[in-house]
Amino acid sequence: MLTVRGLHKEFPTRGGPLQILRGIDLDLSRGEALAVMGPSGSGKSTFLHILGTLDRPTAGTVRLDDTDPFSLSEPELAAFRNRKIGFVFQDHYLLPQCSVLENVLIPTLVGTPRADREPRARQLLERVGLSQRLRHRPSELSGGERQRVAVARALINEPFLLLADEPTGNLDRRSAQVVAAILLELAAQENTILITVTHSFDVARAFPRRMEMLDGTLVPLTATTVKEAS
Ligand SMILES: Nc1ncnc2c1ncn2[C@@H]1O[C@H](COP(=O)(O)OP(=O)(O)OP(=O)(O)O)[C@@H](O)[C@H]1O
Ligand SMILES: [Mg+2]
Repeated sequence: MLTVRGLHKEFPTRGGPLQILRGIDLDLSRGEALAVMGPSGSGKSTFLHILGTLDRPTAGTVRLDDTDPFSLSEPELAAFRNRKIGFVFQDHYLLPQCSVLENVLIPTLVGTPRADREPRARQLLERVGLSQRLRHRPSELSGGERQRVAVARALINEPFLLLADEPTGNLDRRSAQVVAAILLELAAQENTILITVTHSFDVARAFPRRMEMLDGTLVPLTATTVKEAS
């Protein structure tokens, strides 16, 4: 389970504290997938950063896989993040000098050494449709292919939670649909909780649950809103 209760976030600024998140409650079980929409600056990335334990809330609690990550020491938190959370961003952040296969294996190189993950890396790349690209460099791939590598890399450590912040923001409509479908399919197969932030109604429509960040809270996005926007 992912359980969020009364989550608040404010940033100190010269003009006084800036309240961004104002009381978010959320429950997601393994295998569930949520799309989050909402205006620019509404706090979607701020929310994902906190869920990803990259930033701390001002108030409220997060429980992930029966752990309160913010009660952990910094080294424990880093290990927890590496082991339990996968990230996909708008930019792929692949290492240009490494092959596709090596890029997918990068999260396995930090922390406690784990069993040989190369078979799993190959299998994930096959599942994202890139088994013919293992030795390619990122510069030799299309934008959509790069994001599919990023998805495989995010899943290599079998995360409990997969967070994607505008993963299709740089892609054309067709590639965006492919990447969204792959995210959903793999998260479901891996029994991972998936949260995707997107500005695309196309992408949101593919998700079983959809919410909108408005005035610092998460509200359901109605089916009609999604339909009308097509
Ligand atoms: N470290 C910070 N210090 C001060 N203000 C911040 C900080 N980080 C974010 N903000 C502010 O918080 C608000 C929410 O930012 P956030 O990046 O979460 O928005 P978003 O919903 O992801 O927007 P977009 O759709 O454009 O990506 C913005 O007004 C931003 O300026
Ligand atoms: Mg953002």
